[in-house]
Amino acid sequence: MIVAGVMSGTSADGINVALVRVSAQQGHAKTPGPHFKFLAHAEYPYPKDVRRAVLAAMNSTRASVPDLAHLNFLLAELYSEAVLATQSKFRLKAELVGCHGQTLYHQGEPERFLGRKLAVTWQTGEGAVIAARVGVPVVSDFRPADIAAGGQGAPLVPFLDYLLYRDERVGRVVQNIGGIANLTAIPGSASPEQVVAFDTGPGNMVIDALTERLFGKPFDRDGRIATSGAVMKPVVAHFLRAPFFRRKPPKTAGREEFGREFVGEFMQRCGRANRRNVVATATALTAHSIADALRRFVLRKGTFKEFIVSGGGARNSTLMAMLMSELHPLGLELRSSEEFGLPSEAKEAAAFALLAYQTWNRRSSNVPAATGAKRAAVLGKISYP
Ligand SMILES: Nc1ncnc2c1ncn2[C@@H]1O[C@H](COP(=O)(O)OP(=O)(O)O)[C@@H](O)[C@H]1O
Ligand SMILES: [Mg+2]
Repeated sequence: MIVAGVMSGTSADGINVALVRVSAQQGHAKTPGPHFKFLAHAEYPYPKDVRRAVLAAMNSTRASVPDLAHLNFLLAELYSEAVLATQSKFRLKAELVGCHGQTLYHQGEPERFLGRKLAVTWQTGEGAVIAARVGVPVVSDFRPADIAAGGQGAPLVPFLDYLLYRDERVGRVVQNIGGIANLTAIPGSASPEQVVAFDTGPGNMVIDALTERLFGKPFDRDGRIATSGAVMKPVVAHFLRAPFFRRKPPKTAGREEFGREFVGEFMQRCGRANRRNVVATATALTAHSIADALRRFVLRKGTFKEFIVSGGGARNSTLMAMLMSELHPLGLELRSSEEFGLPSEAKEAAAFALLAYQTWNRRSSNVPAATGAKRAAVLGKISYP
């Protein structure tokens, strides 16, 4: 069947739609799981005022309940339009939609609330509305079922990573650089239990916030600002000592860790430095934190040869150059997601199409080794048109 996957990540830059063909595996394939083929991808930036509203609502301690209710329905309209536009653009029609929604709050580790320890997550974008507009069933709200099974509710993309990138011989690290950066490490001939996956820290989130504050631009296009600045190494070293980077996986991060407050501290540490140097330093923090995570938590678990990058950060050439010089000594060779038939920007959206297919067939799609869940879980809620 053709499934549309819809993703809008923590960068709040917009909506990615992927159309994929998924079918039951034929015969005795080595890797269990459905057969998956990428068909098409399109991207729709959020209108400026919507982006502002989403960023304001995320992690806010003072959001209004009516505003949140409105946002839930508004985003659903935008997601529906994005799916319909992608279908007409490529003359394809989905039979099922998997919609991640917009994360407004995510706290994967249990914390005390009114006398109970709770892990919580909240994705908005009403599935019932999307089902009505697009006219097909919609699976949405994937994360709570993993939390209910004792997991952190993230990362969920490792299910796709495992299906796509597992190799009999070669160990691979799959790195996505969105607002937050996360990796999936798959040793050669790994079983799902051997997959290591976690958030490595900031991806573009800190860079974006700084280019916005210091240059009035939403992001550092192609890394042009960072390439003209100098990295302040002591600042990078200081932030790498933060508890998040030292904590063992599984671990997840979001605006709670690397949002407004963190950016404020970062700017304060940079003092009166040239604003280009500040952006260069934030870019270096992303590159170093990824390499650091590899050294601390991944490389001792097997032999890894290939490093596959996806997400908007792959388009930041300065970030990629910094990352390359870090990876080379670790013996990792860079490969792009495109080489595996999946455009880098489409990967997360494609993953939620695949997860929706699993749910539609009452099959699980969390990777307990990645989320820390006690068991496999069927993820999401189904809305019918
Ligand atoms: N040409 C580009 N140059 C540099 N950075 C880019 C470019 N295109 C996208 N990005 C970065 O990628 C981010 C979006 O990446 P994405 O994978 O959609 O993240 P998320 O999943 O958090 O939404 C943008 O906010 C921006 O920082
Ligand atoms: Mg995005």
